[in-house]
Amino acid sequence: MQHRRTFLEHVAQYAAPEDRPHLDCLFQGLVRAVGEIVYRMARVGLLNLDGRAGGVNASGDDVKKLDLIANDILIDHVGGSAAVAYVGSEENEEPIACPEGGEGPYVFLIDPLDGSSNIDANVGVGTIFSILRVKQNAASAQDHFLQKGTEQVASGYVLYGPGTLLVYTLGNGTNGFTYDETTRSFGHSHEDIRTPDRGDIYSINEGYSYRWIPEVARYVNHVKVPRDGRTPPSARYIGSMVSDVHRTLLYGGIFLYPEDQENERGKLRLLYEGNPLAFLAEQAGGAATDGRRRILDIQPKELHERVPLIIGSSRDVAMYGEFREGKR
Ligand code: AHG
Ligand code: MN
Ligand code: MN
Repeated sequence: MQHRRTFLEHVAQYAAPEDRPHLDCLFQGLVRAVGEIVYRMARVGLLNLDGRAGGVNASGDDVKKLDLIANDILIDHVGGSAAVAYVGSEENEEPIACPEGGEGPYVFLIDPLDGSSNIDANVGVGTIFSILRVKQNAASAQDHFLQKGTEQVASGYVLYGPGTLLVYTLGNGTNGFTYDETTRSFGHSHEDIRTPDRGDIYSINEGYSYRWIPEVARYVNHVKVPRDGRTPPSARYIGSMVSDVHRTLLYGGIFLYPEDQENERGKLRLLYEGNPLAFLAEQAGGAATDGRRRILDIQPKELHERVPLIIGSSRDVAMYGEFREGKR
């Protein structure tokens, strides 16, 4: 196999000098954690890791065994690095203070396992992460996390599919790497990902159409009809957002998880789902909004807050905004 630049070499080349040693330390932990997760993910049925763990998490979702295992592994390996002062996780109500990272420059946010309802069906799932700097005068542990997405130092996701991919950004483009279990490293496979400015795929859970707000219904009815001699649209909804968003970044199109008549803030979480994916999308030339506001400009008020998320090709996201604002 051709030698490719590794993820850690890429970080060393592109991180700002003051961040370089700290990010290297954090990401070494992340690469180790991914190795541990991949090992278990590939053997779910053999290690009795399928099924529910019992209980619900801070967002009220059923917790699967692998949600907790992935969470523990990431907290051990990344939260255990000297670069991280606190970890904020979907699976933990409160921020976790990291024993080695009291002086660490960052807080680390994770959705340890995204799409976990798909695990038992052997469908692609992911880990999403976001890195922020600690605040100098934080009023509480949670306060460190309450920063706009524009403040992210880095964000990314790992997609556990037929191959394991890591897609990340430091704010200078979006790049993808493929995991090689034999060397336990990621090789550069997707250089400078660029999302087409419009696409032919829409991705939304149509099972909720009975409770859509009228603006969403009108938009979906509009995009379903082929126009201007363009390719007829296709619907794709995996129900694993990392997989759905990864496809959207590469092929173009739009992924929507909007607010509806039962959930006025939608379902997805701003700090460890919306912000990291929005940063990646923008760095690939795409866009991400809640229908009206840029995701990265939203001032968070709490660790687990929800946000409607519309993400993908810039022109498609802009067109949704026109429908959402009632202009069309
Ligand atoms: P998580 O597994 O971290 O709770 O996130 C699941 C999310 C996301 O991956 C997916 O797009 C969405 O939930 C699917 O939700 P619906 O089944 O409500 O469409
Ligand atoms: Mn998720
Ligand atoms: Mn999750």
